Amino acid sequence: MDGPRAPRSDELDSLLDLLSATWPHFARRYTERELRSRIRRPVHRRYARIIVEDGRVVSNIQTIHNRVSIYGSPFKVASIGGVCTREQSRNRGLAGTILQHCLDETTARGARLLYVSGGRGLYRRHHCVDAGPYLHVELTPDSLPPPTSSATPRRVTADDWPTLARLYQAEPSRFVRTADFLARTCFWWDETRPEMWLVESSGAPVAYLITAPPWGADPADPTRILGEYAGSRAAILDSLPAILQATGAARAKLAIPAHDRAFLHLLSSLGASPAPATLFGHTIRLLNLPGLMRDLRSHLAALLPRADLRQLSFDQQGTTCLFACGDQRAEFDLADAARIVFGAPDAPQLPGDLARALSPVFPLPLPAPGLNYI
Ligand SMILES: CC(C)(COP(=O)(O)OP(=O)(O)OC[C@H]1O[C@@H](n2cnc3c(N)ncnc32)[C@H](O)[C@@H]1OP(=O)(O)O)[C@@H](O)C(=O)NCCC(=O)NCCS
Repeated sequence: MDGPRAPRSDELDSLLDLLSATWPHFARRYTERELRSRIRRPVHRRYARIIVEDGRVVSNIQTIHNRVSIYGSPFKVASIGGVCTREQSRNRGLAGTILQHCLDETTARGARLLYVSGGRGLYRRHHCVDAGPYLHVELTPDSLPPPTSSATPRRVTADDWPTLARLYQAEPSRFVRTADFLARTCFWWDETRPEMWLVESSGAPVAYLITAPPWGADPADPTRILGEYAGSRAAILDSLPAILQATGAARAKLAIPAHDRAFLHLLSSLGASPAPATLFGHTIRLLNLPGLMRDLRSHLAALLPRADLRQLSFDQQGTTCLFACGDQRAEFDLADAARIVFGAPDAPQLPGDLARALSPVFPLPLPAPGLNYI
């Protein structure tokens, strides 16, 4: 067994062969030429982690390094996707070996948290948990009132990202992105056939939303998933009937992070009753609790009295996390610590003074992967 390691340039075709054998729809979505050119993106050459046997890539995990900003406090995160092992090599621990390697490597590179595009046993055995509290709502043109503003949507392309970026920059919880980030992400970033809509009012951009058919569905599927949005929530709702009509879709499914109270308030005033859920298909893995809390110190300072701030401390030994407030200490494994920090229906309770001191802070508002999905 050779690896886990980055692929050499002459192994990229073998990596592509593994990815295409695992997800045959890549060959339907992209031309052979597109595939061969996209797999040569630097992100695959540098941050794919592979195992090679008999000269063939037999197992792979793609990693991407990013930063997230919560109310202006940035911290490093990583994401993994493209997790696959050749059929005849499965159940020998290859993906588990690469995953452990990625956890060690991303932690050493300073990432505080890992986004994982899946929730199977492989990930849960490595302390991945359902990602943050969300509310799901389904909207049809009939359930939406007539637009209350002159906001109009128009279809844009990935080349228009710099226009959308100004709206995204104003989001309180977001990924830190560069203007060219879509060209630097992994090759399948647009495999869900995202439809990008800029919403304008009197010619000025006020919101955008990105819709797509459900994963794996036919493009003619009458459902649209809201994959990402930014800007005025009222303008988003005003433009939704026109977007559904333009795409021939009958309904939109929205997963709204529980911290987006402005959007949830608007939806409830329409009579919609969003149902509690988690972000479908994704889990998260806490990597470094004390590092995360250190990076968020200015956010904590904005929310907590100085006396509490001085008393709070966080530590981590292996997969055990320690929360302390003065003399009161509580230990949790990484999975439960992630549930406490980012919120989950099954999160354990912090005891007494710790719960009181940290209640203004937790759950932290984590951004949805959106266009950072891999
Ligand atoms: C998912 C996939 C990558 C796993 O690859 P693999 O090399 O067989 O993985 P491993 O041998 O490390 O683990 C296989 C299973 O054994 C389990 N396992 C490994 N060691 C174990 C142990 N000591 N005790 C109990 N279970 C164990 C793993 O948790 C995993 O469970 P899961 O199938 O419920 O996820 C592979 O099945 C695949 O390519 N599937 C198709 C693509 C896919 O679905 N990718 C994941 C997208 S989210």
